[in-house]
Amino acid sequence: MTETARQPAAAIPQRLVVLISGRGSNLGALIEACEQGRLPATIVGVISNRPDAGGLEFATRHGIPSQVLDHRTYPSREAFDTDLARVIEDYAPDLVILAGFMRILTPAFVDRFTGRLLNIHPSLLPKYRGLHTHARALANGERVHGASVHFVTPELDGGPVIMQARVPVAPDDTPDTLAARVQRAEHHLYPEVVRRLCSGEIQWAGRILQADGTPLPAPLQLDEDFDDLPAS
Ligand code: GAR
Repeated sequence: MTETARQPAAAIPQRLVVLISGRGSNLGALIEACEQGRLPATIVGVISNRPDAGGLEFATRHGIPSQVLDHRTYPSREAFDTDLARVIEDYAPDLVILAGFMRILTPAFVDRFTGRLLNIHPSLLPKYRGLHTHARALANGERVHGASVHFVTPELDGGPVIMQARVPVAPDDTPDTLAARVQRAEHHLYPEVVRRLCSGEIQWAGRILQADGTPLPAPLQLDEDFDDLPAS
């Protein structure tokens, strides 16, 4: 079966909206991948829920439209999510990419974007959902840690995992050194997953995650060795 026969061009994502809350290093990695032609897509908008998010600077520097929706100015989570959905839809995105977007989303929001909503989480899911993943991995004596990219479902950090990147845990790691190593891996992982979605290699069909047309039995693993990465 040819690429064209497997997935019609119209179904292949090309327009990306990225949501951030902070530093935006994953946004930076996605921008770089687009600009270098490794990722056949366009980031059409960046949205932050924090006016002081450092990542907004990446958007400005690369000429990408950005907007701030300060969640503190909304009376409820529902009101914020309703406005956020409206702003996102104005960009007509094929994929909505959560890149360090530190907000719990309402089920109504998630339902609206199901199948085009991606998140990156700093652990090898299903281990360590939620916060403080690096400290918890160290406390448990993990020898291997990492990051996961998954489709978002209403269950927090519980949606189908597309791909993971594994990193070794060093004996003298602190949460900060481990976080830095995981982030380096994230910067390879996220662009690679989005590339596979944008090339049609991975699809979300009938709520089933598929790779090359067949259901994915387990998360894909990024085939890169992060052993020799410095901690920061
Ligand atoms: C990333 O490490 C990402 O995995 C994490 O926030 C960081 C954002 O960094 N996301 C979560 O913890 C979501 N639960 P960045 O702003 O430099 O991309």
